[in-house]
Amino acid sequence: VSKYDIVKLIVPNFKPAKDVGTAFAPTNIALIKYWGKRNQELNLPMTSSLSISLADHGAHTAVSLSDADTIQLNGDVVDASSAFAKRLIQFLNLFRGPGVCFNIAIQSNVPIAAGLASSACGFASIVKALNDLYQWDLNAKSLSILARLGSGSACRSLWDGFVLWHAGVLDNGMDSYGEVLEEQWPDLRVGLLLIDTQEKSIGSRAAMQRTVDTSILYRAWPQKVSHDMPLLRQAISCKNFQIMGEIAESNALAMHATMLSASPSICYTTPETLMAMQKIWRLRAQGLSVYYTQDAGPNLKLLFLQKDHDTVIAEFNDAVIINPFSG
Ligand code: PMV
Repeated sequence: VSKYDIVKLIVPNFKPAKDVGTAFAPTNIALIKYWGKRNQELNLPMTSSLSISLADHGAHTAVSLSDADTIQLNGDVVDASSAFAKRLIQFLNLFRGPGVCFNIAIQSNVPIAAGLASSACGFASIVKALNDLYQWDLNAKSLSILARLGSGSACRSLWDGFVLWHAGVLDNGMDSYGEVLEEQWPDLRVGLLLIDTQEKSIGSRAAMQRTVDTSILYRAWPQKVSHDMPLLRQAISCKNFQIMGEIAESNALAMHATMLSASPSICYTTPETLMAMQKIWRLRAQGLSVYYTQDAGPNLKLLFLQKDHDTVIAEFNDAVIINPFSG
């Protein structure tokens, strides 16, 4: 099954209904991570995952018809020979008839490629913008499947709030998509601790695959997710912040353990990351209810409640604080 087969199953036509399609998609941070694929072509995951979307932090995208393919990121033209441009053009090739070219203008307010899920909101916003350009009128579930073909975690960026990505069992992945949870948690806060926003040395795609192929600890990962998922779901539904924080932090640490044991080893944690972790653990020992999660990069995302906002800000002056339920 190819990506193109899936697009054909979902998309009704390639006839642009207007000159420009626009959309916004929020970025999302996984509390239970997606780590490892059962199908690399379709980005089908080994396990389900669960995320929180970051409200107005994400990507605005405009897709317009053009004489040649061009890409702009935050106002700058992206070199067509860069890996980023090639990946985008390959994705766009799935969604056009002969002779059609696009100008893609992405405005993102999350640091690109720093493990802050910029590809998630990028691909989700492109799929939504194409849905607008072609006036397909697809539902969020179909858009989620299409966004997954660009980047796995993008399938969780079609909604605000908590989103569960069902791993699915089908070979064509038509049962592997995001679903928004009904629970709201207005007191929940996410703090972005930007430790290093340089481009990372190894992307999540390659890191994930190397881990699946070579890490002796990877076989424990599906068990870890099966253990954590019901506990997190329960913590969300009864708003037990301590359990949510413990599960999210432990899930991230377990994911990084699978990477450390890959060959060659993958370590996104820098001395600064480790210092921030130790500070979080120290603050917790002193009674502050703050936890973290970490993705494929050195930055941390703090998890805390509104009541501790001032204390957290005092300890982490430059954290960017997000209220996921502000919309
Ligand atoms: O979809 P990708 O290739 O950006 O992978 C995302 C991987 C993690 O951010 C580490 C985990 C996740 O679930 O978002």
